Amino acid sequence: MHAANIPAHIGIIMDGNGRWAKKRNQLRTQGHLEGLSRAKKIVKAASDMGIRYVTLYVFSTENWKRTAEEVSFIMGLVKQYLRSELAFFRENSIRIRHAGDMETLPPDIAGEIRDVCAATAGFPGLSVILALNYGGRNELVRAVKRILREQAEAEQITEDSIGLHLDNPDVPDPDLIIRTAGEFRTSNFLLWEAAYAEYYISDKLWPDWTEEDLAEALRAYGNRDRRFGGVRQ
Ligand code: FPP
Repeated sequence: MHAANIPAHIGIIMDGNGRWAKKRNQLRTQGHLEGLSRAKKIVKAASDMGIRYVTLYVFSTENWKRTAEEVSFIMGLVKQYLRSELAFFRENSIRIRHAGDMETLPPDIAGEIRDVCAATAGFPGLSVILALNYGGRNELVRAVKRILREQAEAEQITEDSIGLHLDNPDVPDPDLIIRTAGEFRTSNFLLWEAAYAEYYISDKLWPDWTEEDLAEALRAYGNRDRRFGGVRQ
């Protein structure tokens, strides 16, 4: 693929772990375990392809409605991922970042995220942004609060000033949002940032996703005609 057609930033809504497990008469948690193993492979592939940013939708502000067992299993997976992959992040110069509400995360998870973000902060390769306890509306509410704390005047509020108060203001907007498991919903993911993103929906469940599926999504993206509200020159 021509380098110009490779998106700088991809967001992925990793959906279908539960359905994958159900189809096999397994527990939903098994689907998440398999989902984590796919996430690792896709991160490696994205890093090898030279993609700059990948945002993974790991846990939304709405996911707290799930059973306590499922929530604590997913949090445990996050912890395990951050600890066991640190050497891999180093070898591949991968930087870990976070999007979402840190204040309402369990303190041990928040601490773990802060540690890995700090340990990888200088790495120049792919940035993996873990959207954890993330909701697009929640992010906007927190951004507005930050602006008000600076005692801004109403006239000072612009699209740029809102963008500068989001969780990762230096990260470019996503070019491509991938959603697996065939659902046509945004599910509160990167609401502000995805204003001009291309969407790619895959019918495959997340635990079935492979590097070849990522390559296919990138090919489809490469054929899109992005006009950002303008007209083709
Ligand atoms: C959506 O499937 C998946 C989640 C809410 C959890 C995603 C978590 C992982 C893939 C593991 C952790 C990953 C990292 C990178 C730390 P679902 O449960 O909503 O599936 P369903 O719609 O089929 O029920």
